[in-house]
Amino acid sequence: MEKLVINGGKRLFGKVEISGAKNAAVAILPAAIMASSSISVIDNIPDIEDVQCLERIMEHLGCKIIRQANSVTIDSTSINSVNANTDDVRNMRASYYLIGALLGRFKKAKVDLPGGCPIGVRPIDQHIKGFEALGAKVTIEHGAAIVTAEKLVGANVYFDVVSVGATINVMLAAALAEGTTILENVAKEPHVVDVANFLNTMGANIKGAGTDIIRIVGVSELKGCNYSVIPDQIEAGTYMIAAAACGGEVTVTNIIPKHMESISAKLIEVGVEVVENEDSLTIISDRNLKAVNVKTLPYPGFPTDIQQPMSTLLCIANGRSIINESIWESRFKHVDELKKMGAVVKVEGRTAIIDGVEKLTGAVIRATDLRAGAAMIIAGLVAEGTTEVHCIEHIDRGYPNIEDKFKLLGADIRRVKVEEC
Ligand code: EPZ
Repeated sequence: MEKLVINGGKRLFGKVEISGAKNAAVAILPAAIMASSSISVIDNIPDIEDVQCLERIMEHLGCKIIRQANSVTIDSTSINSVNANTDDVRNMRASYYLIGALLGRFKKAKVDLPGGCPIGVRPIDQHIKGFEALGAKVTIEHGAAIVTAEKLVGANVYFDVVSVGATINVMLAAALAEGTTILENVAKEPHVVDVANFLNTMGANIKGAGTDIIRIVGVSELKGCNYSVIPDQIEAGTYMIAAAACGGEVTVTNIIPKHMESISAKLIEVGVEVVENEDSLTIISDRNLKAVNVKTLPYPGFPTDIQQPMSTLLCIANGRSIINESIWESRFKHVDELKKMGAVVKVEGRTAIIDGVEKLTGAVIRATDLRAGAAMIIAGLVAEGTTEVHCIEHIDRGYPNIEDKFKLLGADIRRVKVEEC
């Protein structure tokens, strides 16, 4: 076990290079399973625990995987099992993409139900609805989803809720179905578009990703390909918010500014200067921050995954901010930790009412989930004195080299071994 020790109060200056998008990578890796010939070489894969977890699962299924720096080579022609039943499968969320990928290629899959961050009930009913519409039989037995089909046939699916996971999972299976599938009320997140682009590079015929309707004309085979994952919108947003909160001037590089619009707009509202360049954004902050209201929404709205870091920033903004979390019903567990540092926050259901304070003070706190962990680091960076962030294995699931990246910006942060979380 490890913890982060942060001596707060330093302004941040310099450049931070953003890695490949976690939530694209964790879908693209399982999608690579669908290649029945040729290898795939995927670049800009972030070096995070969730990716390592998926690589182990795919090796367990018989894939050959070689990792070199940020590039992963996958030979999925040697797969010899459709039964994903290891601890890794149960511990992470994105393992559910194995269902769509294995179903598409082999017309059967047995995948243990996924885990992931404790941010609310995380059903997969919309995934199942989509698989069944394509002709699959789905049962849940002994903690696993068992999905089989004689053949998959294109269908119309109208999702009851906008779901990133269901959109991608059903798109995976439909890519190798017979005929045309129309998916409506789909998620439009950049990672949904990235997975569609990856599948099209493998030979799929998918149009409309990034809009409300995706049209998929099934093909009989997908092949391995070369691909590069998009930059991580949420990692970039985390560093932007850290810069805004600490004060200073930070440029996030290797990003797609268009993907950052909802976050940039909110930071400008807070009183921060955001300068847009071709593939970077510069945040200039004098720490004179104004309270704002935030409502999380599916893309292109303000992302739920950046809500927790944003809540730390609003703890030190002048006035009362109100955050409404519309995606997950329990994504405010980090608030109790912020309160230990002097934050004044009241949570009522899916709403957090934040009365800004002049300063936070260092404390021993813990990361209750991945993005809560990012929020805790930002709190430690702005706080007076020393903060210890425990349970950082949550953070390592989704942020590559986080303390090194912050150190390069001038933060006083170090990783230390501990006996237990
Ligand atoms: C993805 O989770 C992300 N995870 C989450 O990021 C992110 O918070 C979420 O999308 C929303 O953007 C990955 O991509 C691996 P959803 P996912 O299906 O796909 C309800 C992070 O911090 N729903 O879009 O599991 C659900 O309860 C993680 O990186 C159903 O009702 O989320 C939620 O209220 C945390 N039935 C809403 O839809 C379903 O079948 C959105 O969930 C599926 C979802």
